[in-house]
Parts: sequence; structure tokens; C-alpha cells
Amino acid sequence: MPAAKPVILTGDRTTGPLHLGHYVGSLRNRLAFQDTHEQFLLLADAQALTDNAHDPERVASNVIEVATDYLAVGIDPSRTTICVQSHLPALAELTMLYANFVTVSRLERNPTIKDEIQQRGFARDIPAGFLCYPIAQAADITGFRATVVPVGEDQAPLIELTNEVVRRVNRQAGRDVLPEATAVVPRIGRLPGVDGKAKMSKSLGNALVLSASPAEISEAVRRMYTDPNHLRISDPGQVEGNVVFTWLDAFDPDVEAVAALKEHYRRGGLGDVALKKRLDDILQELVAPIRERRARLAADRDMIRDVLREGTLRGRARTEETLASVKEALGLFAF
Ligand code: TRP
Repeated sequence: MPAAKPVILTGDRTTGPLHLGHYVGSLRNRLAFQDTHEQFLLLADAQALTDNAHDPERVASNVIEVATDYLAVGIDPSRTTICVQSHLPALAELTMLYANFVTVSRLERNPTIKDEIQQRGFARDIPAGFLCYPIAQAADITGFRATVVPVGEDQAPLIELTNEVVRRVNRQAGRDVLPEATAVVPRIGRLPGVDGKAKMSKSLGNALVLSASPAEISEAVRRMYTDPNHLRISDPGQVEGNVVFTWLDAFDPDVEAVAALKEHYRRGGLGDVALKKRLDDILQELVAPIRERRARLAADRDMIRDVLREGTLRGRARTEETLASVKEALGLFAF
């Protein structure tokens, strides 16, 4: 029998359609993981509610949108199991059990949570669900018995917390009932927005969604921040902090050609218009098939619902198995 593939889990909060930042940061890697790992993708609608309780409609409608994005980029449901988090009750039960192994002060000290509390302006009015979502994320990861978790750098402290929970549960149980997980941070970090701001986000209006039209792509590239001191084509230009080059590094498969362009730009003689033309061509070529597939898929919501129903059933079996073994290992009452 061939050795079992390592189990990988990632997820996305369902708060909006995915954009090109997701493509380079996670979606592209997930396509490759389909061959090498047993992959689970979680549509994290329950986690999305932890800071969107006032807008469940947004969270629910984006379950289908994000699933459509997955399929449009080439996630194959016969090789990747796509599950809806709120329909996996074993994860909620694991969260309740794990909550007894994590202190409130540990949650408040978590750097990811601290940043997010600030960004959201929660001050003293932090929803308890939000403060506890790292425990729920530990339930997600261990519920699927994942050992590999690809996440952005900002999420690394959550994997640390997951492993603290794993060690406490294992110590209490007196045996290794749960495996520890390793965070894998992707080669391309966070893609800057088209305005050069560090974070691409739909709410900041600086994102290109996966269904962007040809005109939207060209307009974004045209507006893209370069080197403000590069006034004449013959002037030497700066590559560092130049968003067009950051994007070329992320999207252009021809690494040598990009290196030559950087050389030329630094030397002078390469204009922004010519540089941007290359990025525009590459993005148009990348997005066109995704946009077309997405439009076709969006017309067949029943098919997408079927994919989610099937994936969620598989996820339910797997997470219930974990829950049963954790309850047993902790010595809870059994009939
Ligand atoms: N927190 C992740 C995000 O903000 C989403 C997520 C939920 C997740 N559960 C997960 C990621 C489990 C990795 C593993 O996008």
C-alpha cells in the first residue's frame, strides 16, 4: 500500500469573493497540493461570523461565492474535499472541550488577535466568539488531523496556539491522541494592493477580484504605483517598493526576464508604460480563463451546492471520528 499522503487543511472566511492576493498567496499552492497531499478546504463561515454577527446574510452568500472561486481556479472536488464549517458540529464540540485548556489571558496576548482587535476597533467590546476563534481554529486543524497548515505569516501565532492545545490534551490523555501541525508560509507573502498599500482588500478598494474584467485589470495596472522619481524614460528607476515589480515577481513565470527588466529599469531607458504593458498582458492571460470558468460555474449553483454537500459529509465523518477519540482519551462519561 502506498504511504498515506500528509493531511493539509486551510480555509477562508466567507466575507467576500477572493482576489488576486489570494491567488498568489494560497490558491495557486492549493492547486499543487492536490497532487501531493490529502487536502481539505474549509469555508469558514462560522469563523466569519465572529466579527460579522450583524451581517449573517453576507457570510452565507459568500459561501457559494468562495466555493465558485475555488472551482474556477481549478480546485478539483474529486481530489480536494471542500467543507462548510458551520455544518460540522464536531468542530463546535471540540472548541468547547479545548476552551478548558486555554486561558483568557493567553487569548488576549495572541499577537494575531491583538492586531485584529485594534483593526476592528473592538476596544472593550470584544465578542467572546471573536476572542475564542483561535480555539475554534485549533479545533478545525486538529478535527481534520491536519499536520500541514499553509497560512499567511500573520496567522502563524494561531498554529502555535493550536500546538499548545494539542500538547495539553495529549498530556491530559496520557497519549498522543492529536498530532501537532506545522505552519507553511508561502513563498510569495502578502501581495500589495494596486495603490501600493501593504494589504490588498476589497474593502480598501485596492483589490482585483478573480472575475475582474479586462478593463478593470488594465485600469488597475495603469493606476499602479511605480517610482515617483522616475519622471523621464531615460531616468534610472527604483525597483524596491515599486508595486509593478512586486506584482511581476508574484505573477510572471519568466524569472530571468523579470531580472533583466529590473536591470534595465535601474539603469534607465525602460518606461513605466512598457513595464506596465508586460504586467497587463500577464494578468489578462491569467484571469481570462478563470473569469470564463467562473461565469459558467456561477450559472450552475445546484452543482456547486452538491459539491459542498458531498464534501461536508466527508468532513463530518472525519471530524466526528476525531471528536470521539478526544472524548474517549479525556475520559469523558461513556454510555
Ligand atoms: N483564519 C483563516 C483566515 O482568516 C481561516 C481559517 C479558518 C483557517 N479555519 C482555518 C485557516 C484552519 C487555516 C486552518 O483566512
